[in-house]
Amino acid sequence: MASDATDKILEKHPDARRDKLIPILQEIQENCGYLTEETIVKVGQHLHLPASKIYGIATFYNQFTFIPRGRYHLRICHGTSCHASGARALIREAEKLLKIAHGETTRDGMFSLEIVACMGACSRTPVIEINGEYFPLTDSSQLREILDRILQKENR
Ligand code: FES
Repeated sequence: MASDATDKILEKHPDARRDKLIPILQEIQENCGYLTEETIVKVGQHLHLPASKIYGIATFYNQFTFIPRGRYHLRICHGTSCHASGARALIREAEKLLKIAHGETTRDGMFSLEIVACMGACSRTPVIEINGEYFPLTDSSQLREILDRILQKENR
């Protein structure tokens, strides 16, 4: 299925050159959730670039992921302002509650965790984001409440 989506995206860029690499990878990730080895090879063939080069570029940018994201992708900001406002405690709490570390996904595929640099919401620190929604938090208990609400919703 991810392969079909990749083919369709590449078909939309028939004469793409290497300057289209990042937008193409972004589009594939947006549609498929992450990049696979097969994706990297296909994009390389399409752009006439070695797969190793594509992989090197994709790993340079931390916006790209090579593991499937969870249904709920939790991003915790660990930029300077958030760090000063207690982000480290939120990260520890998230890792404890979800039993995963940065870049991992829970076994049931429900949650994935990403620690990121400044999310551009420094006036609301510490801040987390789940599937595009921002939550300024004051402490770890609020993080627990948010995750509990998601689990309750999912178990309905
Ligand atoms: S440092 Fe966290 S939003 Fe800027």
